[in-house]
Amino acid sequence: MPTKKTNQKIKNLNILLGVSGGIAAYKVVDLASKLTAAGAGVKTVMTDAACELVGPKSFEAVTCSTVFTSLWDTPGEYEIDHIALVGWADIVIVAPATANIIGKIANGICDDLLSTLLCAASPLIESGATLLAPAMNDNMWNNPAVQRNIKTVKKMGFQLTGPETGRLACGTEGIGRMSEPKGILEAIEKIASKIKHKKK
Ligand SMILES: Cc1cc2nc3c(=O)[nH]c(=O)nc-3n(C[C@H](O)[C@H](O)[C@H](O)COP(=O)(O)O)c2cc1C
Repeated sequence: MPTKKTNQKIKNLNILLGVSGGIAAYKVVDLASKLTAAGAGVKTVMTDAACELVGPKSFEAVTCSTVFTSLWDTPGEYEIDHIALVGWADIVIVAPATANIIGKIANGICDDLLSTLLCAASPLIESGATLLAPAMNDNMWNNPAVQRNIKTVKKMGFQLTGPETGRLACGTEGIGRMSEPKGILEAIEKIASKIKHKKK
């Protein structure tokens, strides 16, 4: 049974879910819900652009956890969030990963909470516990700067799932669709198996 298998692999892991401003952000609410149902602890960090596309309350409701949207506002107890969140996480995912956030990661740019915590996540990146699910228009994906950044983030140690070829939000067909939540879940399960193996 797929659900049981998922529960065993992901249960009790702390998953930090970064959501950047791609139109596929609405699908990631479903992913957050599936991860939570599988027994993972899920904390969500959203960029300003992501908040324009999906309300933080949706993630808050499905994960039963506070959503982090700012480097400067620290919800709850005082902590330096970008460090505390990375310390808490077993796995960090960014879905959808925009051309912009991929560019920031590749170039060490830290100008909001998500990009800053990703820069602080070096141990997780090196151990293969970070996953990006790129999603963008095909012309953006094929842009040489984006391709250069993709090569860089892979070389740094980020795992990637997708993008897929198919119908894009702009109405055209091409490469750039975010992997479906099921595919992202499978990629997380693969990472989780390795991590749980190491944790033993
Ligand atoms: C409706 C809408 C949909 C967008 N979808 C995408 C997308 O799928 N992928 C992408 O890379 N950028 C997309 N963008 C552009 C990004 O939102 C923009 O580059 C933004 O600066 C990304 O910021 P972030 O990476 O901090 O979230 C979209 C913009 C709009 C207005």
